[in-house]
Amino acid sequence: MCGIMGVVGAKDAVSILVEGLQHLSYRGYDAAGVAVLTDKGQIEIRKSAGSLDKLKSLLVGEPVNGRTGVGHTRWATHGAPTDCNAHPHTDASGKLAVIHNGIIENERALRQKLAGEGYVFRSQTDTEVVAHLIAKYLGETCDLHCALQKTLQIISGAYALVVMYADEPDRIYAARKDSPLVIGIGKDAGYVASDIPALLPYTREMLLLEDGDVARVTKDAVIVWDRDDVITERLPKTITWDQEAADKGEHMTFMDKEIDEQPDAAERLLASPLMRHAVPERVSFVACGSAYHASIIGRELLGRLAQIPADVKIASEMRYEPELPLDDTLCLAVSQSGETADTLAALRQSKRRGAKAAAIVNVQDSSIAREAESVQWMHAGPEIAVATTKGYTTQILSLLRLALEWGKTREVLSARDAREWEEQLNRIPGLMRETLADRDRVDQFATAHIAPRLVFFIGRGLDYATALEGALKLKEISYLNAEAYAAGELKHGPIALIENDALVVAVCTQSELTSKTISNIREVKARGASVLALCRKSDEARLKAEADEVWTLPDAPDAVMPLLAILPLQRLAYETALLRGCSVDKPRNLAKSVTVE
Ligand code: AGP
Repeated sequence: MCGIMGVVGAKDAVSILVEGLQHLSYRGYDAAGVAVLTDKGQIEIRKSAGSLDKLKSLLVGEPVNGRTGVGHTRWATHGAPTDCNAHPHTDASGKLAVIHNGIIENERALRQKLAGEGYVFRSQTDTEVVAHLIAKYLGETCDLHCALQKTLQIISGAYALVVMYADEPDRIYAARKDSPLVIGIGKDAGYVASDIPALLPYTREMLLLEDGDVARVTKDAVIVWDRDDVITERLPKTITWDQEAADKGEHMTFMDKEIDEQPDAAERLLASPLMRHAVPERVSFVACGSAYHASIIGRELLGRLAQIPADVKIASEMRYEPELPLDDTLCLAVSQSGETADTLAALRQSKRRGAKAAAIVNVQDSSIAREAESVQWMHAGPEIAVATTKGYTTQILSLLRLALEWGKTREVLSARDAREWEEQLNRIPGLMRETLADRDRVDQFATAHIAPRLVFFIGRGLDYATALEGALKLKEISYLNAEAYAAGELKHGPIALIENDALVVAVCTQSELTSKTISNIREVKARGASVLALCRKSDEARLKAEADEVWTLPDAPDAVMPLLAILPLQRLAYETALLRGCSVDKPRNLAKSVTVE
């Protein structure tokens, strides 16, 4: 998603804007730009398609100085990633500059109406519609706050907007609906950004806007109006994140660092308080991507350890299903960023239908965290790489802890079981370290299999969720066409694709199901595939008799194995992506937090 940065009252607005955008670049983008209000009272724009380096060289060639400005990294939704479509966008007079993250859903009708009134459009973006609308209302009111409020009344969709106006040089305005915005309160400057890391170098005092808020930011004050345009108080928070934790340290990439951090994250999570929520009758998970895969594991664990029935829904599908009552249900939204638009919408829809709302989230004060009645914090620390790793495993561990807690409360687990599980939980970080230490086998395998024609990941039960996540990791960072199937499904069609040089990764960690998956290994080998099997150490001999290569994992209970089995698959995706020269932390076409539909 787009990155947003604004500053007012700084000595050198450009350097702050560019550094802020650098911190936001992990979100994925394809164009970047800044607008600066010069001391002569003019707004100067520098923007281009491509990387931040292109914008930096543009600024070297055509420097611009000023104390107030806005900056943007664009992830294209309306219009190709061209110089013209890059933000900021201005009105015809050039006295107004707007940057935006989100989608204005009624932009086409508004664009047609404005064009009919003589407004000339230079870009294909929905954001330019906002610039002309504000200008139109400025012509009627001459007051930016009023003009902005009028504009917000008629646009629909998701937006995080930051606006600056040459005739009001000491302030910038920010408005949010469904796309996050953070205000930074500096000693002698005011800041706005789409998320916290961009502001950490300048301030730890931050104020999080709510949906419908409009804020006026000057160098020494912030005024916030709520959705009813009534001045309201949003209490600033002191952010305790360590900037160092948000940087790479000695690792080459954020993803490399975050894979290695998983045992520490697990330790932090195990030492943290568990969400307190009454034991639900039933649970309905809503999530996207890897969080959806973690939720599949959550459903299994709730069934096995707490005998609580649960279902899992892809949030983008669930948000449009018939709104039948969910009165006896706990909707559990799982989201690392806490800003995924589909998951937020599904959570809201569930609440409308009578469900209780809880969330498993990593980012404090995120939208999903704020709209849930109970929150289980993942304690993964800032996750910067687009492909989630520690986010995924802390989601699973959070779900394991919740299942055990509710199983104890419902007396499905005996006191003895509970004591044994306490010991098992405390072993997990060490088991993860032991698994991660065995890297050479992964590096060698990745080198030997860098570009197989077809890659299948297969598994049963909890292993199926691991197969889904392993395939997604390989897909999203190495761009190889990898698919995951429930192993029992192969014979219902997908096995038709198996022929020589196909690679099948068989996840076999579940005690009762290993022999079934071994049958599937035999089926694909008989048709020419080569097979990599993942299994417990105690099953090594069985699998070595069947597969071409076997990666063993430490012995642990079935319910713990997903936390271990995914680790070498994360590394496999990572090493393959490096070998293929892919951009590991910022894969093409992807964004870290998908805050649009
Ligand atoms: C996973 O590697 C992807 N980055 C993506 O599938 C992600 O899990 C999904 O977009 C959900 O994100 P969230 O956990 O922040 O809601």
